[in-house]
Amino acid sequence: MKDTREFMAAEAVKMNGAAVGIPTRNLQFKHPDEVPRYFAYNGSVVGTTLKAVFSAIFPPGERYFVESVRHFRDQVKDPVLKAKITGFIGQEAMHGREHEELNEWFEKRGFDMAFPEAQIKFSLWLCERFSPSQQLAITTLAEHFTAHLAEEWLTHEEFRGSTHAEMLKLWTWHGIEELEHKEVAYDLLQQVSENEHLERILAVPIIVTCMVPGILTSWAYLIAREGKLFDVQRNLSDLWALFKPGGFLTNVLVQMPQFLMKDFHPNQRDTRALVERYRQEYFSEKGTVAEEFKNRKAVAG
Ligand SMILES: [Fe+2]
Ligand SMILES: [Fe+2]
Repeated sequence: MKDTREFMAAEAVKMNGAAVGIPTRNLQFKHPDEVPRYFAYNGSVVGTTLKAVFSAIFPPGERYFVESVRHFRDQVKDPVLKAKITGFIGQEAMHGREHEELNEWFEKRGFDMAFPEAQIKFSLWLCERFSPSQQLAITTLAEHFTAHLAEEWLTHEEFRGSTHAEMLKLWTWHGIEELEHKEVAYDLLQQVSENEHLERILAVPIIVTCMVPGILTSWAYLIAREGKLFDVQRNLSDLWALFKPGGFLTNVLVQMPQFLMKDFHPNQRDTRALVERYRQEYFSEKGTVAEEFKNRKAVAG
């Protein structure tokens, strides 16, 4: 028994995210000048500013997710979960860095990113008022939402067919990795929380009151800054594209209620085949992001 424990402890030290399917890929994107100002949904202001709001959320939001997970890392004995946490932290750190770069691109194009960034910082400050395990439950809900966003980034034909190819690379990479690590925060919550189901349920009103108003205000603000708030016909048609049956956001929102089920688990939705297909297409030697993927050999090794 002692030998087994010592072996597991030694393995835990050796294991990293890559060993459990969550490698830290160092991708560095350039956003070329030819990328149009409104790069999403065939020149849609509504669609592109929504992307800008998401991108503003990611760097501070993912830092918050990482901190909420890191808080409990030392309590974890299971070497596999420990390695998954390492992978989760590494992937989210890279996402934050690349979205900061993208946010600079938005700034250079004249989008006022300071406004959504201030909104999200305030929202996260409110979320930080809760207990560590409640904060981890908030992260699990945010990760559930992001995993379904990710699935749409990878599969929604209207989104993929109408977004500039250079920009699509970043969102696809981010999407693949969100699916790779979607269960990590959830599995950790199961281990460390004394009332994980209640905390998951409470995460819903917390996010709805602390975060959603800032997101919607930021979205409307960025559209207004573009001088397009009263371009009613185009905006309504772009909103319909997002919220119609089968629309990008509808597909995400209809997946939210299952998070409230007591026996919910992120892996009940099997996305392994989707992830594997994109891994081949994107991360292989001649893959779509071969140039951006700076540590491909190390990850492959
Ligand atoms: Fe992420
Ligand atoms: Fe994530």
